[in-house]
Amino acid sequence: MDNLYNGRPITDDDIQLLTMFTRQAGLAIENCILYKYLEDAHLELKKAQETLLQREKLAALGEMAANVAHEIRNPLVSIGAFTRRLYQKFDNGLYEKMYGEAIIKQVDRLEGILNDVLSFSKASKVVFEKFDLNRIIAETLAGMEDELKSRGIEVEKSLDGDLPEILCDYQEIKQVFINLFTNAMDAMGDEGRLTVKTSPLSQEDRDYIGIEIRDTGGGIPSEVLHNIFNPFFTTKGWGTGLGLAICHRIVDGHRGVIEVNNDPGRGVTFTVKLPVEGGVEWLTPSTAPNRTSSHAKGNGNEVSDDEEDTGGRR
Ligand SMILES: Nc1ncnc2c1ncn2[C@@H]1O[C@H](COP(=O)(O)OP(=O)(O)O)[C@@H](O)[C@H]1O
Ligand SMILES: [Mg+2]
Repeated sequence: MDNLYNGRPITDDDIQLLTMFTRQAGLAIENCILYKYLEDAHLELKKAQETLLQREKLAALGEMAANVAHEIRNPLVSIGAFTRRLYQKFDNGLYEKMYGEAIIKQVDRLEGILNDVLSFSKASKVVFEKFDLNRIIAETLAGMEDELKSRGIEVEKSLDGDLPEILCDYQEIKQVFINLFTNAMDAMGDEGRLTVKTSPLSQEDRDYIGIEIRDTGGGIPSEVLHNIFNPFFTTKGWGTGLGLAICHRIVDGHRGVIEVNNDPGRGVTFTVKLPVEGGVEWLTPSTAPNRTSSHAKGNGNEVSDDEEDTGGRR
């Protein structure tokens, strides 16, 4: 066929030239694609590097926050203890008594904030042992009994008596219950009903224990529901916003799940599902199951320096 534009016949030379041209063009296109691919890979690498750097910065910040919290807590505990002693020495009605009470309240609040920051940011030694979850729940509720009673909150327990013991860290699981019960109390204010139910579950061939914690505190506004597990998210003037983030971290570390069932206007049900063989993956000879653990006997509210200062899994 002739050239369409100048009418001249197409020679072998023309075809050779065209072939060369198309080869070069093909190579150029291929290079272009490769270059684009390389550019994308470079961008991705840069992003990954930035994320890593950001994580490192956050980890360093977390460590700094934990160190500061630890340093502040020691003198604060002394201030609280000495104020309590002075408080007892003054008669009711005196200004000194009133001031003492105000200091004690604020110190308690600061201690709560520091404890939250410490549990959230500092690696703690996790000890997996066999425990009866019903017992941990009962002990946690007993520790909060006075506050629940004084607030007029009724507690309904429906604890399955045939639960197997589960492998877990006593202090951490107790912390989960403290945080969830405290949120329920905060939501209910001066009256309400806290229901705690345990039952065995089986999911994907694994045995779990399900713990349902229901309150009648009016629920969570649906527009903030997606934020509640985010660290520092709080709708309370006095909150740290760390309670649920800590619960999430702990339950995750036990290979469990925490779910929320919100009933706006009525209340919330938090369901924690913990595998019976919980932390078995991290078991070391020194943390082998031991039924006569000291953790089971303490009231668990205190955090000793020993526990905090030992670097652990997380
Ligand atoms: N039982 C509950 N009822 C209503 N709202 C809740 C409940 N539990 C958690 N929330 C909401 O989730 C937020 C985050 O809770 P949390 O992480 O424990 O932080 P904080 O208690 O310090 O605010 C709370 O501020 C509140 O808005
Ligand atoms: Mg809370």
